[in-house]
Amino acid sequence: MKTRITRSPRVAAMVLRDGGLVAFPTETVYGLGADARNKHAITAIFKAKGRPPDNPLIVHLADPALLSQVAMRVPKSAQRLLARFAPGPLTVIVPRHPDVPPAVTAGLDTVAVRIPNHPVAQALLTAYGGPIAAPSANRSGRPSPTTWRAVAEELDGRIPCILRGSASPIGLESTVLDCTGSHPAILREGAISREALRGVCPQLADYNPPSVKEPPRSPGQKYRHYAPTAQVVLVDQPQDVPTRRAAQTAYIGLTHDGFPVRPRRVRRCRDTAEYARLLFRFFRACEKHGVRWIYCQRVPETGIGRALMDRLRRAANH
Ligand code: TXA
Ligand code: MG
Repeated sequence: MKTRITRSPRVAAMVLRDGGLVAFPTETVYGLGADARNKHAITAIFKAKGRPPDNPLIVHLADPALLSQVAMRVPKSAQRLLARFAPGPLTVIVPRHPDVPPAVTAGLDTVAVRIPNHPVAQALLTAYGGPIAAPSANRSGRPSPTTWRAVAEELDGRIPCILRGSASPIGLESTVLDCTGSHPAILREGAISREALRGVCPQLADYNPPSVKEPPRSPGQKYRHYAPTAQVVLVDQPQDVPTRRAAQTAYIGLTHDGFPVRPRRVRRCRDTAEYARLLFRFFRACEKHGVRWIYCQRVPETGIGRALMDRLRRAANH
């Protein structure tokens, strides 16, 4: 299959209408979209990504007012959260409408919904005029793509269309909140911090990863994730980067003085937000340049630092 790269949301919407897949930019990461009501198109997403069929997808909408197309009902907590954070990097889990094929939600009776605020994602949703189911546009288990070139590297020849835009400004995936229980619970840390969520929902429940016996509430969380081909290792400071094999070593973090031996690639980030934005891109650049060990500096777990640490730990396979 030849992958067409376009800047036209109209062209991309046509591909969706034909039941094809379209990768498109969002403010968090690039998504791999399909008509959320076409179960053949949904199957194609799982196939192109090599995604386990028990891992449900997020449905994207242009506007919170359209939620009733995909949700049976919208719990009060979801309404409040969307009023404050939509459009934006927040995903809410709500009861699924029967029009959403079970393939989208991996058979669950809940559905994940997000209203992206990226102008190109909005243009696509508007041109298409319906709900778009979209996971991140990487092969399963790999870092999410934050540029259209990264999408092309992951999926060229496997999907019909990439809607091209600029790099995703946040760089980490959305915060996923389960709104079906008595108190909303965070299933995945993301760009919207706990602190910000507590401002709207003081009752925010702390999500404890389920024990081995209990099925996971967010199936995606059980898989190894965000991993480049190089080995990711977490350190507290540049002093902790080993001196051996510096030529095949890279480092990313907030501080960059005091290496015993300077690694071949070093990326210092101004702050945690820049670190989050650049992390997955840095992983990919390291892969291309034959780096075998990527040392990543730990950050304080506040604000987006919590999501960043979550991705770093998973990439390091802790
Ligand atoms: O920022 C994002 O959320 C990006 C952009 C493209 O919107 N999308 C994204 O999708 O990260 P994906 O498929 O890579 O991650 C979706 C996560 C998975 O961990 C999945 O298990 C969880 O959301 N999820 C989806 N539907 C769910 C449901 N009904 N119940 C619980 N978890 C769900
Ligand atoms: Mg993903």
